[in-house]
Amino acid sequence: EKGGYASFMLKEIAEQPKAIADTLLGRVDGSGTLSLDEVRIPTAVLREVDKVVVVACGTAYHAGLIAKYAIEHWTRIPCEVELASEFRYRDPILDQQTLVVAISQSGETMDTLMALRHAREQGAKVLAICNTNGSTIPRESDAVLYTHAGPEVAVASTKAFLTQLVACYLVALYLGQVRGTKYGDEIRDVVRDLSRISGAVEQVLETMEPVRELARSLAHKDTVLFLGRHVGHPVALEGALKLKELAYMHAEGFAAGELKHGPIALIEEDLPVVVVVPSPRGRSVLHDKIVSNIQEIRARGARTVVIAEEGDEAVVPYADHLVRVPATPTLLQPLVATVPLQVFACELATARGNEVDQPRNLAKSVTVE
Ligand code: BG6
Repeated sequence: EKGGYASFMLKEIAEQPKAIADTLLGRVDGSGTLSLDEVRIPTAVLREVDKVVVVACGTAYHAGLIAKYAIEHWTRIPCEVELASEFRYRDPILDQQTLVVAISQSGETMDTLMALRHAREQGAKVLAICNTNGSTIPRESDAVLYTHAGPEVAVASTKAFLTQLVACYLVALYLGQVRGTKYGDEIRDVVRDLSRISGAVEQVLETMEPVRELARSLAHKDTVLFLGRHVGHPVALEGALKLKELAYMHAEGFAAGELKHGPIALIEEDLPVVVVVPSPRGRSVLHDKIVSNIQEIRARGARTVVIAEEGDEAVVPYADHLVRVPATPTLLQPLVATVPLQVFACELATARGNEVDQPRNLAKSVTVE
């Protein structure tokens, strides 16, 4: 059933272009139109939403962190993202105008379920993003947008994560469309870009051999750090989580701008630091700042692994290892930038002799609080 792959994880990583295409199927088309009739919350209600709160755990929480950028940009509605396990214990402010988005691959995570129950008790509308038909979280929600990743067997989430991102973009774009923000043209362009994105992920997958080689060469390390900013920050957090889950290594993700406020003290000779670089187009100020960060850590001895868009020449002099990803609109970059981090963690864990599908101490779906 592994279809010739050594692990479910490798198989599921390889399935990502199809998972993305399946999640977009019937929802977007090449002309830039978005149809999401399955979101059964009436458009009149969606127009009144004045706050979005995303709740999720683990990898799904990282999808939520990225969703915040998309939702706030395209809809201009304030968005909070909270770990589901913390949510109901802090007396969150919720009412009928709050839209809660609960993200869960399994649809059975107890922390997320308890958060959404609490939200509904306060009168909030709940939209689930879920990969498992008929599971508890979508059943208890007002509406559901299914990700069509297919069954995910490996405990550490890969294809479900990318499809959660797609679903989050769809929700953000749909809310923007329904509410008619000033980003109408941009929304149409991004819908078109999304319909081409699975090809970009395929392209990344075809160029992963150097990443695998690098991972094997770092198998003896104790620590790997990950840096990113803007949507690259949650990507860095996800890269670090994958390494913890699979390789049982100390791995941490940081916002690159925070480096100087503390984490830079960790940099020492030959410490691997993976940096997710934003596009030099678009938010180019951020690009320039992160290039300075790479220079700073390299001057202190870090071994830099730079994930950068094709054609970004500014990073070349400071990259000990350079991983290229296709150019995408800024907000969509996590779909391509996460893939090398998944491959990296999977290969490194394998080199350390770990069982990647069933990491120690973890369960695919945690049904206790
Ligand atoms: C964890 C899994 O316990 O639950 C993670 O090991 C997962 O991989 C998290 O991201 C959330 O699960 P779900 O099913 O709610 O997305």
